[in-house]
Amino acid sequence: MKQLLKNMNINNKRVILRCDLNVPIKDGNVLDETKIIKSLETINYLLKENCKIVILSHLGRIKSEEDKKQNSLEPVRISLAKLLNKEIKFANDILAPSTKEIALNLQPGEILLLENTRFLDIPNKLESTLNEKTAKQIAELGEIFVLDAFASSHRSHTSVVGISKFLPSCLGSLAEAELNLLNNHLSNPKKPFTVIMGGAKVNDKLAVIKSLLTKCDHLLLSGGIANSFLYALGLNLGESLKNDNPEIVSELQSLMLTYKEKFAFPLDAIVSSTYNNTTNIKSIGKIEDNDIIKDTGAKTIAKYKDILDNSETIFINGTMGVYEEKEFKNGTTEIFNILSKYPEKVVIGGGDTISALNNLGFRGKFENISSGGGATLEFIANGTLPGIEAIMEDDGIEVLDL
Ligand code: 3PG
Repeated sequence: MKQLLKNMNINNKRVILRCDLNVPIKDGNVLDETKIIKSLETINYLLKENCKIVILSHLGRIKSEEDKKQNSLEPVRISLAKLLNKEIKFANDILAPSTKEIALNLQPGEILLLENTRFLDIPNKLESTLNEKTAKQIAELGEIFVLDAFASSHRSHTSVVGISKFLPSCLGSLAEAELNLLNNHLSNPKKPFTVIMGGAKVNDKLAVIKSLLTKCDHLLLSGGIANSFLYALGLNLGESLKNDNPEIVSELQSLMLTYKEKFAFPLDAIVSSTYNNTTNIKSIGKIEDNDIIKDTGAKTIAKYKDILDNSETIFINGTMGVYEEKEFKNGTTEIFNILSKYPEKVVIGGGDTISALNNLGFRGKFENISSGGGATLEFIANGTLPGIEAIMEDDGIEVLDL
């Protein structure tokens, strides 16, 4: 296929490489380098081909000037430089003339990392609204565009789908491998097909949940998403994370009516009380006003195990609780224990889920791991992804006057 990196003539070319280096960072340190390590294969291939490399990535969610402080890619630059044992140049304003000058003067084998693409959203949303003028400006920094950010390819953003309109473009090695993984396991999944979904905010995922329900046989929920559904059923969730917006509540109610037999909800939970700081296991119908749900209980895990044992394909994105805290890691650990009995049936997806896997000692137990969480859910729901489509439609390129 023409649009794969291995089939392109890239020798000595200036390549714009869109990676997904959206990694957890605390106090300026990268907490989990998995996504950076996964990006090395393409970077090393480009280095071997004597390319001049301009790397783009987003990091976190940028809604205000304040958000920028915590979300610079500078810690990623340090980590990447260490992993490659190589100096990485950095430019903090993607659209500045000085950045273009650095990019155009790169020598073969040199790498320039640009600051977080989502900084372009403040103030004018130049990244998230797929701004053509901005895409063209970024395209002027290179001669070829390589999309390796599989985990972001569900976002119709400027740096993901915009640039390929102006440059010869292809998928990088990671994006190719991830696409193959999903095509093989999730395009036409063996049934029963079960999706385990955690996550904080139901409104972020509502569209995808609606499509998923037409594709999967079972949807096992946890976290804020499960809480929102349970709240819509009329249960008291105390101070737990949930969406109580009346419009969302009524959408969730109608989904539960339509797909009653597909949903599986928690039966019990480990809660901590903001009133007296105690931790208790409670039935889901007995949650009190001061309780916060922190983990999934043993009855729920037993119920989920029954469904999982009888499934032929399983996709998991999300955890069962706040696994980072010792007393709330049991639910997630138990689910990974169950899944590790039949890893060939399981696809794991998403940075947080992979971090949980690594932190809880399951590294190496699963083979089918996708860096895409949201991306994989959208792939299951819609059968394709905007970023991948943009590369595959790469025929009518508007050639830049370089
Ligand atoms: C991810 O971690 O799933 C990707 O990097 C996409 O991040 P986003 O959900 O903030 O777009």
